Amino acid sequence: MASGKSFYITTPIFYVNDAPHIGHAYTEVAADVLARWHRQAGDDTWSLTGTDEHGEKILRTATANGTTPKEWADKLVHEAWKPLLKTINIQNDDFIRTTDERHETNVQLFLQRLYDAGYIYSGEYEALYCVGCEEFKPQSEIVDGTGPFKGQKVCAIHSKPLELLREKNYFFRMSDFTERLLALYEERPDFVQPESARNEVIQFVRQGLSDLSISRSSFDWGVKVPWDDSHVVYVWFDALLNYVTAVGYGQDEEEFARRWPATHIVGKDILRFHAVIWPAMLMAAGLDVPKQVFGHGWLLVGGEKMSKSKLTGIAPTEITDTFGTDAFRYYFMRAIAFGQDGSFSWEDLSARYQAELANGFGNLASRVVAMVARYFDGVVPAETDPLEADLAIRAVVAEASAHADAAIDKLAIHDALASIWTIVDELNGYITDQEPWALSKDDAHRDRLGTVLYTALEGLRALAVLLSPVLPEATARLWTSLGATVTLGELDAQPLREAGTWGQLSAGITVSPLEALFPRIESTVA
Ligand code: ME8
Ligand code: MG
Repeated sequence: MASGKSFYITTPIFYVNDAPHIGHAYTEVAADVLARWHRQAGDDTWSLTGTDEHGEKILRTATANGTTPKEWADKLVHEAWKPLLKTINIQNDDFIRTTDERHETNVQLFLQRLYDAGYIYSGEYEALYCVGCEEFKPQSEIVDGTGPFKGQKVCAIHSKPLELLREKNYFFRMSDFTERLLALYEERPDFVQPESARNEVIQFVRQGLSDLSISRSSFDWGVKVPWDDSHVVYVWFDALLNYVTAVGYGQDEEEFARRWPATHIVGKDILRFHAVIWPAMLMAAGLDVPKQVFGHGWLLVGGEKMSKSKLTGIAPTEITDTFGTDAFRYYFMRAIAFGQDGSFSWEDLSARYQAELANGFGNLASRVVAMVARYFDGVVPAETDPLEADLAIRAVVAEASAHADAAIDKLAIHDALASIWTIVDELNGYITDQEPWALSKDDAHRDRLGTVLYTALEGLRALAVLLSPVLPEATARLWTSLGATVTLGELDAQPLREAGTWGQLSAGITVSPLEALFPRIESTVA
């Protein structure tokens, strides 16, 4: 399986100041769908997620809760962040915490190398800092406060007052990299995606970069600066390095060469860190820049970004408890164009569950399997003399598979799903047109009936494979029902890029009854 080309994908590592909401789950699902797709296509896949545990924000939260930052982080990781991955069925290969020894040691190594190479100097600094962002804010993101913060300067993202900090800091010579970064965006137009994100980044860098303060000395919750232990490393400098420390930077060069560079999936709130600071850090260290940085949109509540700090977060279990994990994964990948903002609504979720999953895909599967049971004693019939309508289904399946793979390559997950769904829609139309129930009434149509049901079964076989990265539970049940394991093997071993090849199911194998893939939701939701 792992013989194909390397595909290393990451999510942001999340702050453990609070429990996850559906915004974090959204990023996790997107990265997981991409990882599962590549893994199943035979690419040498590695998917990483984790937690960001240092810095003032976490220190303050822990203190406010009467505990130490490490104890607080342990509690949140074990009670909230790791369980999230189960709730939404994430198949990550690794989970890194910035308090891991493998991380801290190699952050120090990286920093020491930059220091030795002359990219770091010490200086005085005074600027407005947002603890929510963990960032000294550029002028463009400082606005006048309103309500309780009237008369103060607040962060445009968090709407909370900024703090004036004056410290002796170590600085990274980021300004040296302005031209090289601009050249990078120019030479590799897909380095930052989507287009809107790329334009914003270019716009920002064109104004010229300042050097970056990369240490703090007023608190000590962080990685110690190796040559001066009165300082800790700036939390973002520390956090970004997780993407390399997790795959062997500084300790396993072979593993590092195998995995790096990565595709980074992040929310657009943290795009600049990933598309500007991070590649500059890597350039300074003489390492490859990432393969790609994709900034997805925000889940909005009442037109605003859903957030922990504004207490507008919805817990993922509120959705999965009613609709199930697969529906959660499907909904967010289908309803929101990846790269754009989207408003979550219970009505839209319910409507899509009913129309697309229960009636569209679920019903199709149940009906076809039930007809094979009724008309052929559950044995897959042979296909004979396909007619135009049957050949049209083959063409739809082949085209949908090819389009979906091309869409995934561009990280257009919603487009991939839309392509795959043409199979669902066409097959439903095909069955209505071919009326197998009518064919079953006359023995003279027995061969024709067999061909129609075989065609439908093959369509379901392709759907099971193509949808398995998004709907792992439902497709596994469908696969078992189709009896496909006997001749084709496990679902997750089916080569994804060959899903569109016709005729993989063998006549003569036995299908078994299929319980509704997406049962009716009894309780009405808010
Ligand atoms: O920024 N809609 O962590 P964080 C969509 N530790 N995605 C959302 C979202 C929303 N409303 N809210 C959050 C950090 N997210 C740093 C990252 S990486 C080296 C360090 C997702 O806990 C989205 O992926 O604030 C966003 O970028 C991320 O959570 C921010 O998580
Ligand atoms: Mg945040």
